[in-house]
Amino acid sequence: MDFRISQNVARMKGSATLKAMQDVLRLREQGIEVIDLTVGEPDFPSPRFICELAIEGLSKGYTKYTPSKGLKVYAEAISEFYYRRFGAQVSPSQIAASCGAKQAVFNAICSLINPGDEVLIPKPYWVSFPEIVNFCNGKVVFIETEENDFILSLESVKRAVTDKSKLLILNSPNNPTGRVTSAEEIKKIIEFCADRKIFVIADECYLFFVYPPMEVFTVATLPAELRHFVCIAGSFSKTFSMTGWRIGYSIANEEWTKGIVRLQSHSASHPTSFVQYACAKAITEKFDESMNVVNEMLDEYKKRRELLVFELQRISGFECKMPQGAFYAFVDVRALTGKNGFSSSADVASYLLEKGHVAVTDGSGFGAEGFLRFSYATSTENLKKAVEQIKSVVKW
Ligand SMILES: Cc1ncc(COP(=O)(O)O)c(C=O)c1O
Repeated sequence: MDFRISQNVARMKGSATLKAMQDVLRLREQGIEVIDLTVGEPDFPSPRFICELAIEGLSKGYTKYTPSKGLKVYAEAISEFYYRRFGAQVSPSQIAASCGAKQAVFNAICSLINPGDEVLIPKPYWVSFPEIVNFCNGKVVFIETEENDFILSLESVKRAVTDKSKLLILNSPNNPTGRVTSAEEIKKIIEFCADRKIFVIADECYLFFVYPPMEVFTVATLPAELRHFVCIAGSFSKTFSMTGWRIGYSIANEEWTKGIVRLQSHSASHPTSFVQYACAKAITEKFDESMNVVNEMLDEYKKRRELLVFELQRISGFECKMPQGAFYAFVDVRALTGKNGFSSSADVASYLLEKGHVAVTDGSGFGAEGFLRFSYATSTENLKKAVEQIKSVVKW
């Protein structure tokens, strides 16, 4: 009626995964058991010792506001962790607490981008990147990566750059492709950007989930003169299976950090105080336990990845490379579209859901029409069942 959503929000698209979720719900309400491979969150419980640290935080009175930048012990803990795990020197003054990597990315984009600034986003992309840029009235410029097997290269960045480019958004390991850009290539890309005074956001929320021969790499280890141009968005969500806790951080130069904190001071204020306390303790005093948790999850993902991808590669019309990181298999179904009654990858996803009762995410929301994303952040048993159910309805 009289209500009109603001232009800033009207420019943003709704979540691309929402439709899949609604379809799953609809089938479940009809009593149909659906295996959901759309979820982008670890299926492991949050570590018990971090839960206990949160309770400790509560009983110690960490129940009040903290500074918008977060608790001092939280920034100090992140700094210590990066030094201990990577040998990277990150000053606490460059660190701001955030409610997950999502808010870190939101804050970093909004505190940098002016209307008309061009923001380079490699395709396929995590759904929120272009929408946040749209919100800021920035101009999204996509970088095509398919010719290099969806791995971002300096060459592809060079082709997309203009004199209005202000920011590049990196995401390696990547959602949705599971591809990893090598440390050398990332360094070359950031050198190129820094030379042109183009800033870079490195969304490292899947940082630790990298499979050999690829190696874990954080841009925090780059020299300070390059780091000046970079904001890292980090998170506990995937790393420690703590998605619901809403805790992450940004690491950026001090001026950028001040902007990030000013913006946050007028929105979420800060992530929950006892959660900051628990995370600070976990990655310092319980460093070994924390890294064990990560390594156990990584081992499990490795097994699931092999099981799922091996099977998917054998399904007629599916083409799937072995993912190098994160927990997604990215399947090319273009051999199926244009025939078999499928006009798009969304049709293939609907068919798998309606007939096979397996939910996967259509790639078009990630800028990758013709592809499907399968999350293997679910049990081996579920993955086996999903594959059997898909095979039983493959009639092409
Ligand atoms: C690339 C990427 N960045 C950020 C996020 C959000 O993470 P967080 O829970 O830390 O906000 C996700 C979640 O799926 C993601 O895939």
